[in-house]
Amino acid sequence: MLEDIINISKEAGELIRSKFNTDFSFEFKTNESDLVTEVDKASEKIIVNFIKKKYPSHGIITEEGETSLSKSEYNWVVDPLDGTTNFAHGLPIFAVSIGIQKNGETIAGVVYDIMQNIIYSAELNNGAYENGKKIKVNDNANLRHALLVTGFPYDVRENPENALGKFVAFTKASRGIRRLGSAAIDFCYVAKGVFDGFWEVHLKPWDMCAGKLIVEEAGGLVTDFDGNKVNIFSKKILASNGKVHDAMIEILKQNP
Ligand code: IPD
Ligand code: CA
Ligand code: CA
Repeated sequence: MLEDIINISKEAGELIRSKFNTDFSFEFKTNESDLVTEVDKASEKIIVNFIKKKYPSHGIITEEGETSLSKSEYNWVVDPLDGTTNFAHGLPIFAVSIGIQKNGETIAGVVYDIMQNIIYSAELNNGAYENGKKIKVNDNANLRHALLVTGFPYDVRENPENALGKFVAFTKASRGIRRLGSAAIDFCYVAKGVFDGFWEVHLKPWDMCAGKLIVEEAGGLVTDFDGNKVNIFSKKILASNGKVHDAMIEILKQNP
């Protein structure tokens, strides 16, 4: 199945790449910061049509369509374009993210970094890979030497849990913070040791399904802000190399 996910991610990614910096239409979803373009929808169509044809008994959750798990043994969890704001503004950091769950456990995941043409992939208990080459989290244990990444929910203006206080605290506690605008790519950069940690407050199943498995299979740790296990419906997500995890939890607990 992994080969299928890789192939369909590439096919959707090629469509997205061909539309980058062209005149595509878009709409607002929940507010003026929350966009969906015709390209998000076209990518989703390619992926959903493939799954329906090849795996008709499988359930599908996608960002722009179906949003709840089916009773099928297998469910595909699909973000057809992660990093829509970047895509819409001409910033070349966006991905296709697809995970597959079997009875509620993620067994395979792929993130396709479209503009860099990099496939990140993982299968349960079989390691994480970047274009077929094994990747690992880094082994830095000192938060002061850590490069971190985060993101913010689209309702950051009105959401009291917007995590802006955490951003300030981590800025002072670490070497630096980046905000790439694609949660799927954030996870992969933790998995390959570029970032030591990634936290975000309101992720959705399709933002994290593949990325969480990729981090775990690269030797990293993914929990909530109290260190508890998470599933794809959990909201508060901390992914790290494992070594700065406790220090990050302290900051997450102490700051709004
Ligand atoms: C968003 C991106 C962003 C994150 C948001 C997500 P989208 O996904 O992953 O980095 O901060 O929480 O919703 O809307 O571009 O698919
Ligand atoms: Ca997303
Ligand atoms: Ca998306």
